[in-house]
Amino acid sequence: MSTTTTAGPAKMTEEQFTKLRQIIYQRSGIWFAEGKKYVLESRLTQRLKQLEMDDFEQYAMLLSIGPYREDEFNEMFSRITINETSFFRNQPQLDVFENKVLPILLEARKATKRLRLWSAACSSGEEPYTLAMMVHRSLGVRLPDWHVEILGTDLSQKMLLAAESGEYGQYAVSNTDPLILNRYFQKTPTGSYTIDPTIKSMVRFERHNLKDTLAARRHGEWDVIFCRNVMIYFDQPMREGCLKMFHQMLADDGVLFIGHSETIRLPELYSARSEPHAFAYTKAENEVSHVA
Ligand SMILES: C[S@@+](CC[C@H](N)C(=O)[O-])C[C@H]1O[C@@H](n2cnc3c(N)ncnc32)[C@H](O)[C@@H]1O
Repeated sequence: MSTTTTAGPAKMTEEQFTKLRQIIYQRSGIWFAEGKKYVLESRLTQRLKQLEMDDFEQYAMLLSIGPYREDEFNEMFSRITINETSFFRNQPQLDVFENKVLPILLEARKATKRLRLWSAACSSGEEPYTLAMMVHRSLGVRLPDWHVEILGTDLSQKMLLAAESGEYGQYAVSNTDPLILNRYFQKTPTGSYTIDPTIKSMVRFERHNLKDTLAARRHGEWDVIFCRNVMIYFDQPMREGCLKMFHQMLADDGVLFIGHSETIRLPELYSARSEPHAFAYTKAENEVSHVA
């Protein structure tokens, strides 16, 4: 009997839940804990209907074998993940970046004039573009002398396409100061906002799975890493794997910014910066002194 013909979410057995969450975990590190079966049921019911499938057993099969498994994983991923973001999200934290961290890094890099920022799990790109605006206004007329590299990565192809388009709706700019809106965006006749071409050219996007800690290494060393509001969806081993990878990828005087509901408990690797609302970490002091 089809489980998708009745109104409301299709029913998932415990066994199907175990299979699906294992697939999701192996591919992305996102962990659906016990009791979260209803989340998968409600987010994937519509997909089952579109595919005219009778149950989640068939769906798990589609994700595991056959030529469409990669495409279907991408489709499923965009349905089960939270992509919530906006420009200038968490302004007090961004103030720490712009007023405390950036001036020190610009001074420290004045000989090479190279600055590298990574926004990991950037969703539709508002975060790396925000960083580009802050670097742009901090450097001002000095910008052409600098080689600034800002990379936005995410696992979701759909989000990366949105990021590359550089066009946003009203919600994305709801925290944006009108002066900034005026300076760095153009309003289109349909009421959306497009990013200023100079800011757009400062940011590059690439698909990257945070689970793939080896692939991250090819990007080289970063002065600042933002990884906000994604590690909350990972289990402890995955979170620690990411944090160890970030530690390897961070310059000795680099800074890691995380989400306001996340914490790092790896004192051998990271020290929290003291500013309130910073949610920012440097490499643990003993490490830095070893390197000198
Ligand atoms: C809530 S958004 C965070 C966006 C932005 N960092 C912010 O804080 O505004 C979380 C993003 O993490 C991405 N994501 C989830 N698992 C991932 C993984 N394993 N690798 C890379 N990105 C992932 C999702 O696609 C989603 O776009």
